[in-house]
Amino acid sequence: MEEQRKNRPIGVFDSGVGGLTVLKQLVKLRPDMDYIYFGDTKNLPYGEKSKSRLLEITREIFDFFEKKEVSSVVMACNTSSAQVYEELKDSYPFKLYPIIQTASKCIAQDKSLKKIVIFATNGTINSKMYSKSLKMHNQNLEMLEIACPEWVPIVEKRIGSENKAELIEKYLKPALDFKPDKIILGCTHYPYLLDDFTQFAPKNLFINPAESFSEYIAKDFPKPSTKNQGMREFFVSSEPQNFVKNASVFYEINEPVKLADLG
Ligand code: DGL
Repeated sequence: MEEQRKNRPIGVFDSGVGGLTVLKQLVKLRPDMDYIYFGDTKNLPYGEKSKSRLLEITREIFDFFEKKEVSSVVMACNTSSAQVYEELKDSYPFKLYPIIQTASKCIAQDKSLKKIVIFATNGTINSKMYSKSLKMHNQNLEMLEIACPEWVPIVEKRIGSENKAELIEKYLKPALDFKPDKIILGCTHYPYLLDDFTQFAPKNLFINPAESFSEYIAKDFPKPSTKNQGMREFFVSSEPQNFVKNASVFYEINEPVKLADLG
């Protein structure tokens, strides 16, 4: 990376508040760095989008980050890591960190794991990116992949919240019947529901990939040669107030959230 770029902020993005589960860990591990978070609230849920639409959307976000001259971009979105990372990885002058490919490598290092359930969006599950990446590092893993399309709308729009327990049990039941050693929360929105999951299963059954992902990137970030301010900037593509409210379960935003002009 060029010396000048090294001192620039790091971009982090997801379809809405989900990626804040990653930003929170990053800020904890590397408070010295400057971050620009982009929540694509206008286009969520990503899990139901076609690959070609996701490519268009992600290119717009990367163009936005390019204008901001970020040093790197953290793809804190499993769906876009699964669907568009490969295609875009060499197209921009910043380094990309994809969540699935990075976290799978860390998770698969635990050789005591034999049976794993992966909860994720339709887009991620259909790509089979999680199971392929985990298998690359541990061929003996037995895996069950389950798409949970109702969960992101609960977190972002409160849609279905009146039947929340039912909508959670619908997917947790087959997962628990599989008797997994761990369940991977393969969508960054799902940790927002962790308290609800623990009504059915113990907390330590769940892996939040944001943790190992953030540990990896926090170590990998180059030390800036000038002192950063620990700056945080937040942008969304629609409804900034709703974003702040939804985020508050996980992350208290004290900075103004701005509408981003992606045009
Ligand atoms: N949170 C994102 C993910 O990790 C996308 C969720 C969505 O918008 O469907 O896949």
